Amino acid sequence: MKKLGVAVIGTGFWGKNHARVYKELERTELMAICDIEPGRAKSISHQFSAKPYTNSANMLKNKEIDAVSVCTWSTNLANEALRALKAGKHVLVEKPMATNVKQAKELLETAEKEGLHLTVGFLMRFIPGLQYIREAVENKKIGGLVCATAKRVSQWPERIGDVGVVKDTAIHDIDVMRYIFKKDPITVYAKIGSMRHRKFEDYAQIMLSYKGGKSAFIESNWLTPYKTRTLIVTGSEAIMKLDYITQELMVEDAKETVQPRYAWQEPLKLELQHFADCILEKKKPLITGADGLKALQIAEAALRSSAKNRAIKLE
Ligand SMILES: NC(=O)c1ccc[n+]([C@@H]2O[C@H](COP(=O)([O-])OP(=O)(O)OC[C@H]3O[C@@H](n4cnc5c(N)ncnc54)[C@H](O)[C@@H]3O)[C@@H](O)[C@H]2O)c1
Repeated sequence: MKKLGVAVIGTGFWGKNHARVYKELERTELMAICDIEPGRAKSISHQFSAKPYTNSANMLKNKEIDAVSVCTWSTNLANEALRALKAGKHVLVEKPMATNVKQAKELLETAEKEGLHLTVGFLMRFIPGLQYIREAVENKKIGGLVCATAKRVSQWPERIGDVGVVKDTAIHDIDVMRYIFKKDPITVYAKIGSMRHRKFEDYAQIMLSYKGGKSAFIESNWLTPYKTRTLIVTGSEAIMKLDYITQELMVEDAKETVQPRYAWQEPLKLELQHFADCILEKKKPLITGADGLKALQIAEAALRSSAKNRAIKLE
């Protein structure tokens, strides 16, 4: 069986998990890792028996590397992803993909020109309960869709110092709403601010409105002392509640509460397996670069809405 040669750029808290999973998957072979911090490059490469680099340009010359995960600080994601695409590698770039829409567009154009896969790390889509919800909405198992409410709150993870809570955290739920509504909102209205964080916003309440009167509500912050990650989807006949942390899903109607059961699965493993399968089998990935760009456009519109104190129309 042909294995996909892979590498990871940025091996901090999250990139280390990418390296571990690539090592565990049958269809991937972890060739190298790169981190600008030499001590980290050395220890992670040792842990996962991969060649260490502190400069991605040198690493990308290796022809045995077919694909890379880019897991650097958010402000370095786009530059590293662009360099990898220009070196002919397929790319999974972590969210938020880029720090602005202009950079994200350049990534899309480059991937298309080079005929390479470009996917974005919207991990939530690989949680089986969310796939159940999407299918239930599509098949009207909860009646007509009315609204969805996402809550993603915790204390500020101090290692994140280069983007605010909208592009770091709320962006997951912006993508989730696009996934379950299967279309884009027409307007965004947001209240965003900072209570503790000096440089960036640390709370955001975002409302997305859809054609036909449906709405999505997103609450994100880095203020709440404990971690909550939930989604509630309201239909005309029933509601569904998903806890992303435990992966527990509940479906409630007037008569009963049902808890569909499936084995807990590591979403990152499902995500990286899917990335490898799509490249090896030349299939379109579940999440494209266009999904990343769209989520970033909505995130920027939310920031604009709050700054201007009015709803922003989306194209
Ligand atoms: N999809 C998810 O659920 C999820 C979860 C956590 C983090 N992330 C994303 O992953 C990325 C990394 O987050 P983290 O928590 O691991 O941060 P981190 O600070 O722990 O790690 C980032 C690492 O990247 C390295 N680095 C920075 N610039 C580099 C460059 N140009 N080349 C090589 N290495 C470089 C740093 O030295 C550091 O080791 C962020 O973009 C974050 O949004 C996604």
